[in-house]
Amino acid sequence: MARFGFTTFGDPNVFHRLPADPPTPKAGQVQLRVLAVGLNPYDASLRRGEQAAVRPLKFPIVPGTDVVGTITALGADVTGFALGDVVLNYRPIGGYSEFVTASVGKLVANPANLAVATAAGLPQVSIAAVTILDQLALPAGATVAVAGASGGVGAVLVQLALAAKLRVLALASPNNLDYLHTLGATAVADYAHAAAFAGQADAAVNAVAGGADHGAAATTLKPGGLLITTGGTADPAPRADIQSTALTHLDAFAPAMTTALAAHVTLPIIARLPFSTAGVIAGHELLETHHAPGKIVLVAE
Ligand SMILES: NC(=O)c1ccc[n+]([C@@H]2O[C@H](COP(=O)([O-])OP(=O)(O)OC[C@H]3O[C@@H](n4cnc5c(N)ncnc54)[C@H](OP(=O)(O)O)[C@@H]3O)[C@@H](O)[C@H]2O)c1
Repeated sequence: MARFGFTTFGDPNVFHRLPADPPTPKAGQVQLRVLAVGLNPYDASLRRGEQAAVRPLKFPIVPGTDVVGTITALGADVTGFALGDVVLNYRPIGGYSEFVTASVGKLVANPANLAVATAAGLPQVSIAAVTILDQLALPAGATVAVAGASGGVGAVLVQLALAAKLRVLALASPNNLDYLHTLGATAVADYAHAAAFAGQADAAVNAVAGGADHGAAATTLKPGGLLITTGGTADPAPRADIQSTALTHLDAFAPAMTTALAAHVTLPIIARLPFSTAGVIAGHELLETHHAPGKIVLVAE
């Protein structure tokens, strides 16, 4: 089998094919034949070496947190899953691989009506969005503002917040406002017009890739409101009268993913690439751009 990884940090061309034996599942694990892998900004950050100080890993590094696969072997003591089941798997690393092993606690059955490629775009962003909503603990009828609402985390958050009967003020780049309307956001604006929502939100989320929303999310908050930033460490509160924090932990995968699937969250797929070295490089080249809303997915033949 092949894995796709790198032995030096750098641009997308550092990826190459790494031959390996298919992994054998231990007790409580299954082996998956990978059908599709969703790419995330985190994968690119790993490849650039930005995580090396906080998460030292040995080379070769094979990224990939969001996997959909078919169960091809069962370890001892596995219950609840059977050979041939198609499942979603959220993993710390290693998904760019033709076969992986995974603990049953990191699996959720893929709903029959959910396309494999679409499902592969959901795990990491869904866990992040569910965690944020849990952390905010807003009552129905409250107002949440989401900057970067066109991104994976942001768009899932908008969908979950609407399902929870929250009012959603969605902020994105001007060319993505139509997309925010299709999500059903209560009101939409581009970042430069965040002042239209000034002082309206009980809580706000900055889900802009890298975190540079230029104060848009903070502007929307009522005094005393909470701002959660997804990209890296939170800046000190940009306003003295609000609280500010970073998303530093994620909820457990299975319950969070089950919550997201129950709300029928979905994201567009903007690139469906082959499960090959060229496909991985093309996916990472796209990750490096300010791309259209949606997910980049590697799909096996
Ligand atoms: N802490 C955690 O556990 C965790 C988990 C998941 C994600 N994250 C972080 O959360 C952030 C969002 O992740 P995501 O998966 O939602 O990313 P994404 O799908 O790439 O979306 C990010 C959004 O950021 C906006 N953006 C503004 N300027 C940008 C630029 N120069 N390049 C790219 N995007 C830009 C884009 O919206 P507009 O074009 O409309 O401005 C885009 O839709 C990332 O920083 C990611 O690393 C953290």
